[in-house]
Amino acid sequence: MTQKVEKAFQYIEKKKDSILKDFNEFLSIPSISADPDHTNDLITAANWVRNYLDRLGVSNTALLETDRHPVVYGEFLCGDTSKPTILFYGHYDVQPPDPLDLWESDPFNPNISGNRIFARGTSDMKGQIMVFLSAIEAIIKTGDISVNLKFMIEGEEEIGSPSVEAFLEKHSDLFSCNFVLNLDAGSLSKTQPSIVYGLRGLAYFEIHVTGPDHDLHSGLFGGIVRNPAMALAEMLSGMINKQGVIQLPGFYDDVLPISDDEKNEMAKLGLDHNYYMSQTGVDMLFGETGYTPTERVGARPTLDINGINGGFTGVGPKTIIPSKTMAKISMRLVPNQTPSKVYAQLVQYLEENAPAGIKWEVKRLSGDSETPYVTNPHTPEAQCFAKALKTVWGVDPIYQREGGSIPIASNMQNILGVSSILSGFGLPDDKIHSPNESMDLDMFWKGIRTVILYLTSVGEECK
Ligand code: BES
Ligand code: MN
Repeated sequence: MTQKVEKAFQYIEKKKDSILKDFNEFLSIPSISADPDHTNDLITAANWVRNYLDRLGVSNTALLETDRHPVVYGEFLCGDTSKPTILFYGHYDVQPPDPLDLWESDPFNPNISGNRIFARGTSDMKGQIMVFLSAIEAIIKTGDISVNLKFMIEGEEEIGSPSVEAFLEKHSDLFSCNFVLNLDAGSLSKTQPSIVYGLRGLAYFEIHVTGPDHDLHSGLFGGIVRNPAMALAEMLSGMINKQGVIQLPGFYDDVLPISDDEKNEMAKLGLDHNYYMSQTGVDMLFGETGYTPTERVGARPTLDINGINGGFTGVGPKTIIPSKTMAKISMRLVPNQTPSKVYAQLVQYLEENAPAGIKWEVKRLSGDSETPYVTNPHTPEAQCFAKALKTVWGVDPIYQREGGSIPIASNMQNILGVSSILSGFGLPDDKIHSPNESMDLDMFWKGIRTVILYLTSVGEECK
């Protein structure tokens, strides 16, 4: 280990308390992008990041306007144009904390218990941003940095980055870089770091079904009108068959098959049925027959109901035929599916299968840019990251395709022409998007050491 790295590591050891204090402050801002009532909190969070960058001496920091929430920009250029320019990507927004009553501590009043810090956004991904900022702070405060850094920290990732594609097109020169480092994709386990080379895309919809013009007494009117909740249930259940195969017309037409090589690599990860059962708390798995769970999560498309409402769901019995009902559904997409084709397939399915006697309407809640992403993880810069992971964890990272989505990755590929190194220090049991989200603090400190090693080597021997 070089002296430079050792000094930076020592700096972190000394600053642990103040790093946690800052992290705590960042986590306390309820920057929930899905909720318009929190618009000001998004601006507070963006300013918090910007001020932090200013304190580190990052130049040209700014909150750049988008159609929705601002993007934090900054640059730290070492002045040597022979060194790579790395764009650090992050998102300061978080998912809604609901359902609140299932949290054991306040989602926006962080709480350390055992070896974990609990709050919404700890793992996804304010903790990952803190890791990166702390690493550069340690490098800068103990020496100098020998790469060029740009920052893009957005506030719309958790709602699908709707305005970021147009934003990137407008600012493509500003964000020009050699590659992107995106720590929003996590690790496989505490002992096994990952480099992620694929993400799924997303198509998200609401289906509204209307029957009678008001809720009806189910005794007086039951038996003479179609019940919209029954109709919706029928429409939804027909979307997937007993073998887990999605029934929308043409849904699999553009799906690229998984090659035998890739199947072998996926099998080597050793993620068996027991692994997924222990992660989810179910006693059997369900999914498309003919594929392993790892293949289904990483490389096959899926369809889910995210929520259903309508009718009476309060305490006790109430005998009605509801007037209205609604379901939120989403599909995870794989290459070469596109969100707009999937929308057309959904509409065609409903036209062909919705029962008569109700009205239905589909609303699109996601855009064209949420496309799947697959990249080559064996570029020199990604291999340099792999080397840093190996130094800290003592094992080589595994290469995996993740089932989650990060819309910006394909946008950056298409607009800036650069690929992303996808990794991170979140774990599958961090409960991201769920009550009691947390981040493992060993992962946090090891993450900082990894990024220090990476940034001090990517411009040097790794190049
Ligand atoms: N960080 C996640 C995505 C993720 C998690 C990727 C774990 C790989 C491993 C991200 O913040 C996220 O949740 N994205 C949303 C995007 C959607 C709203 C377009 C998702 O996947 O649901
Ligand atoms: Mn995230």
